[in-house]
Amino acid sequence: ANVLVLHGPNLNRLGKREKHIYGQTTLAQINKKLVEKGKQWGLDVECFQSNSEGELIDRIHQCDGVFQYIIINPGAYTHYSYAIRDAIASVDLPVFEVHLSNIHLREEFRHTSVTAPVCKGQIVGFGPLGYELALVAIAEMEATSSK
Ligand code: DQA
Repeated sequence: ANVLVLHGPNLNRLGKREKHIYGQTTLAQINKKLVEKGKQWGLDVECFQSNSEGELIDRIHQCDGVFQYIIINPGAYTHYSYAIRDAIASVDLPVFEVHLSNIHLREEFRHTSVTAPVCKGQIVGFGPLGYELALVAIAEMEATSSK
């Protein structure tokens, strides 16, 4: 199966940005590991990062017929982008929402995800491991064909 990993705004700054919250690992390191793990588990993983809402929406639309799963960290858009939410709802794919930090432990405005209700599930607070946990879930769903 083909898996698209979408990273939203400011995630290109991982490794430099608020390290006490997001850690030392860079986005390139996260993506490399996901592609490798994907290979081990029979999944073809492609990664894309954008700071722009429209580009993320375009990539979600383009998934139709090309990708079978999406893993997305919408960054701050999580908390207010009805446009990304509607884009997710418009494609008929299981979408996994991932956040490096535990958004529920942080500022009040981060407690709400407007995108999570149209996703299959949400993984928060495990740092880069969260993306791998989503991949494991996908591998398992593929093995049992229980989309
Ligand atoms: C984040 C949490 C968001 O609140 C924040 O705006 C981010 C990163 C996370 O992965 O923990 O950019 O999505």
